[in-house]
Amino acid sequence: TLLHEELAGDEVLVVSNREPYLHMRTRNGIEVQRPASGLVTAVEPVMRACSGTWIAHGSGSADRDTVDRFDRVPVPPANPAYTLRRVWLTKEEEQGYYYGFANEGMWPLCHIAHVRPVFRSSDWDQYVAVNQRFADAVVKEARTDDPVVLVQDYHFALLPRMVRNVLPKATIITFWHIPWPNPESFGICPWREEILEGLLGSTILGFHTPFHCKNFIETVDRYLETRIEHEASTISYGGKLTQVEHYPISIAWPENDNADKPSVAECRASVREEHGMPADHLLGIGVDRLDYTKGIIERFQAVERMLELHPNLIGRFTLIQIAAPSRSSLDEYQNFDARVRMLVQRINNRYSSGNYQPIILKAEHHDADSVIRYYRAADVCLVTSLHDGMNLVAKEFIAAREDERGVLVLSQFTGAARELHEALIVNPYHIEQSADAVYRAVTMPDVEQRERMRSMRSLVKDFNIYRWAGRMLLDAARLRQRERIMTKIR
Ligand code: F6P
Repeated sequence: TLLHEELAGDEVLVVSNREPYLHMRTRNGIEVQRPASGLVTAVEPVMRACSGTWIAHGSGSADRDTVDRFDRVPVPPANPAYTLRRVWLTKEEEQGYYYGFANEGMWPLCHIAHVRPVFRSSDWDQYVAVNQRFADAVVKEARTDDPVVLVQDYHFALLPRMVRNVLPKATIITFWHIPWPNPESFGICPWREEILEGLLGSTILGFHTPFHCKNFIETVDRYLETRIEHEASTISYGGKLTQVEHYPISIAWPENDNADKPSVAECRASVREEHGMPADHLLGIGVDRLDYTKGIIERFQAVERMLELHPNLIGRFTLIQIAAPSRSSLDEYQNFDARVRMLVQRINNRYSSGNYQPIILKAEHHDADSVIRYYRAADVCLVTSLHDGMNLVAKEFIAAREDERGVLVLSQFTGAARELHEALIVNPYHIEQSADAVYRAVTMPDVEQRERMRSMRSLVKDFNIYRWAGRMLLDAARLRQRERIMTKIR
């Protein structure tokens, strides 16, 4: 209702690289999959609520037949609420724009995880071209001259200005799902001015935290001639005003508190049984894309250190790590994958006995229900990102625990740590500290677990994804109204 009130019949278009549904050709015909993506987790429920069109890269479905059939599809498949419009990219476009500029350039540039960004002119050319292709798709899809366009993430830094040039009355809300670094770090990007100018085509530019907003405003101040109103958090550039605001992203709170799911007790028992563990076995869970920003290596080292310090837990504690393969054609990701596997092997060689293994790595895609089952079975969830915009795994874990048990160990370098103060907050680079936190988690009295979990659950339930979208749309509605009044006065 809140979303409908804010939108008041306005046309909504979402643009993102990742599509909310993959139509995959398998031996059994077309199968629909949900990708592992925080962005999709967050934006999909919003689109279900407000309908409209979601424009995304048709990545999952490649052959000619699927291209023809799945160009424009009503989704979700079981209960259509909005349209998924796919833009098909060539291999070269995908290589240069997605793998190259977005994921070898912008991703390491914005995440301070000490992986050196790579900037190639040929990738940049594809990035510009693909941004233009998506901007053209937005213009083509728009039925009115003032749609609300929700632009997602670092794949589309240039698109806001491209759309603005053709649809000057559009309300463009751009959300940057990853961190924004300080001006010195950002300044190494050879096309820093173009990126900033592109983003300043937005009516509203959103980040997860005030800190990222501050970094962005300082970056603009350093590299562009603009007028900045620090108190109002606005930037005027080329006669256009952009509001820079923080909107911490969240998740949709589970309907009826998971009443339709197997109970926590059932999940605890079945996961342990499946892995040949006794009923009181202590279980940690990690859920990530296999990405070097997620602190997976440091997490495993912390588990190893904990077993070293507390040998009574050898044979009694296991970490199950779900790691969805990601961007795996890039060298950096292949090397990371190999390092992760080697470390698991080394730690398991050191501590396994009989069918006991301290770390179980499940490096494959898991659907949402199976992830929830692990969240519910776990005693502790480990989120140890080296740097992360928000991290929705932390919030999903909390939402899955209506039993008010389970402990969250959370990196201080996630946006989530700014909200979830009752988690055990760690510096993931400090292995000793993380090891202590995991130990503290698995030995935490029930009363303390309940107190912490209850407080975090009430926060996430309240500040859910509809609140995130609602706040952005409310701010946009105010700006739209102000613009209308100013046009009349002029
Ligand atoms: O939230 C950051 C993000 O890069 C999203 O843009 C993306 O959908 C998600 O992580 C997963 O990455 P990818 O889409 O490259 O698989």
